[in-house]
Amino acid sequence: MSITGIKGMNDILPRDIAAWQFLEQQARQIFHTYGYKEIRVPVVEKTELFCRSIGETTDIVEKEMYTFEDKGNNSITLRPEGTAPVMRSFIQHKLYNETDSSKLYYMGPMFRYERPQKGRYRQFHQIGAEAIGEDDPRIDAQVLAMLSHFFEAVGITSVSLQINSLGCSACRPGYRDTLIEFLTRHIEDLCDDCKRRYATNPLRVLDCKAAGCKEATAHAPSVLEHLCPGCEQHFSSLQQHLHALEVEFEINSRMVRGLDYYTKTTFEMVTTALGSQNAVAAGGRYDGLIQELGGPELPGIGFAMGVERLVLLLGEDKLRAEPPQLFIAALGERAQNDGFILLNRLQRQNVYAHMDFSGKSLKAQMRLANRLGSTFALVLGDNELDTGSARLKCMAEGTEQEVKLDALAPTIAAALDAGAA
Ligand code: HAM
Repeated sequence: MSITGIKGMNDILPRDIAAWQFLEQQARQIFHTYGYKEIRVPVVEKTELFCRSIGETTDIVEKEMYTFEDKGNNSITLRPEGTAPVMRSFIQHKLYNETDSSKLYYMGPMFRYERPQKGRYRQFHQIGAEAIGEDDPRIDAQVLAMLSHFFEAVGITSVSLQINSLGCSACRPGYRDTLIEFLTRHIEDLCDDCKRRYATNPLRVLDCKAAGCKEATAHAPSVLEHLCPGCEQHFSSLQQHLHALEVEFEINSRMVRGLDYYTKTTFEMVTTALGSQNAVAAGGRYDGLIQELGGPELPGIGFAMGVERLVLLLGEDKLRAEPPQLFIAALGERAQNDGFILLNRLQRQNVYAHMDFSGKSLKAQMRLANRLGSTFALVLGDNELDTGSARLKCMAEGTEQEVKLDALAPTIAAALDAGAA
């Protein structure tokens, strides 16, 4: 029996790659204009990093991490997310001493042992960005403006932005106590999971999908009514800046997020198009995290987008692979040989050109050109080689034009330009 891949871990096949490359390239381009630089960190880290940052009582750390002992008996974990590794690297390399290394972006695979379903996988990919060092709400607004810009640029409109504030170390403990007190009064109505975790991680109960928990917490105290003056001011300034930048949003005071490092602003870009996997991007502020990991007292805010989920929402036109620009159909041995050299010359001139080497008939070669969706085709025989010119056929329209073989690359570029105009 042949060996298959691991459940919940997908191959990204050539037929699907166009969408991935489009998203990555758009992210690179857009993030660059907001001053972000790419950082690449390993896919494995010391387990302790995630326990300390994401939080011991979160679902991720309790149930979902791929944790192993390596041959030196060290506990290592496949990264379940990118923020903690990026902060670890930021601290380790003292990037805070560099002028231009406080806005960072990353892309790559993350690993969580979740129950796989559409939009939820065990190896999935994130494109994320982190802005470190400033707590001005303008930065929060700018991060959200960049996220909205990205969604607009890639043509995903079926999403909406929800924001919330989770308070800070001054006001959250008070809210937490109030919430525990409320939940204690409704304990009988909570699901088993929430009965177990309400005292350790009460905010997660607000996010529980069980009908009983939803009903029991419908009138739970709102975090927004328990913010300290500083957090309240921060949250209201953020809203003003978002209005000024024309970023649309809704407030969702029940959005709590599944990672413990958040403070103040949190947000999710949600969709109704993916069933229960409704968050396409998510993030927030983590003002205590860098210090918690042994670094200086620097605030931060960022987000990560789930690339598989973005791909599911992309328009058909973004999913199509780019076809060859030219197919050279060779007639006879001499054309096979000279055509091979011409093919190489064109490729060096950045023309995406294709040719068949299996000795197919002319008819079969043209059929292949069609199947590949080649924009142009050119038949090369003795006559064309003797005269140095051939007929360039536009496959979609069936029209032909005479071209000099040594001017093929500029002729094709001009024709493609004219077609795109
Ligand atoms: P997160 O909400 O855990 O946040 O994940 C961010 C996004 O990754 C989700 O909104 C979703 O699109 C995608 N995602 C998460 N789990 C899966 C999965 N099993 N399968 C497919 N996609 C998934 C974080 O990871 C934070 N590090 C975000 C952040 C950055 N906060 C501040 N900076």
